[in-house]
Amino acid sequence: MSKQGEIDYVRHIGEAGLAHAVDKPFSDGGCAQMLVDIGIVMHLLPPPPARLLDLGCGTGWTSAFLARRGYDVTGQDIAPDMVAAAQAARDRQGIANLRFVVSDYEGLAFDGEFDCALFFDSLHHAVDEEAALRSAWRALRPGGILVTHEPGEGHAANPATQAAVARYGVTEKDMPPRHIVAVGRRIGFSRTRILVNSERLVRLGLGIGEAGLLGKLARYRALQPLVAAAMNFSRWGRLGSMVVLVK
Ligand SMILES: C[S@@+](CC[C@H](N)C(=O)[O-])C[C@H]1O[C@@H](n2cnc3c(N)ncnc32)[C@H](O)[C@@H]1O
Repeated sequence: MSKQGEIDYVRHIGEAGLAHAVDKPFSDGGCAQMLVDIGIVMHLLPPPPARLLDLGCGTGWTSAFLARRGYDVTGQDIAPDMVAAAQAARDRQGIANLRFVVSDYEGLAFDGEFDCALFFDSLHHAVDEEAALRSAWRALRPGGILVTHEPGEGHAANPATQAAVARYGVTEKDMPPRHIVAVGRRIGFSRTRILVNSERLVRLGLGIGEAGLLGKLARYRALQPLVAAAMNFSRWGRLGSMVVLVK
């Protein structure tokens, strides 16, 4: 587990790896699911031109996507090479309402400047996820919304994940919804909502987001721990899910 591993990552993946990261989602085999997911994220966020903080933005595909929709976006990442690639992509696309900062999301100085914030596949790289969630909480105005899109239980044990940790020295953790909800509530988020989100759930007939069976159950706060437990107990917990937290 090392922040230096995150910082050095781009240098280790080579030109092809960087090209893949920059061209996401279209360069990725999971493109269809990524587009579904960013669409759901957009649906959960307040409408543009809300001020959005994209935490652990990497090469910034989510930042650029949401800026093109009209959000006023600040992308944030600990890796200077990631941010340089994100800035170059932004300039190529000529997006004005998008800026990037290099910083550690576990100790941000933002204080109430944002209407919404996003961790898209990045919170599970935190050494201290409570500090990262606290940074997001501080950065939001009262009533501001944080959306997380993270892998659930089983991610860290996945052989591909373990290979990445061994090769690059990056941090990879399970980040199941029940954990995000528990930490978020401890920090002070007043409302939380879990969204079951998986293509496999659709195939199983259990549905996606709020429309599916689990999504409907998760609307009732009293049932959220049950839904989270079901997801974590079963193999569903291994699949990505989203959490919405309201300051
Ligand atoms: C799996 S990548 C996801 C990047 C981007 N959100 C995406 O979906 O393409 C995880 C990102 O988290 C960043 N990261 C890891 N630890 C961080 C920290 N402490 N502060 C800020 N960013 C961090 C990494 O540099 C990396 O860009």
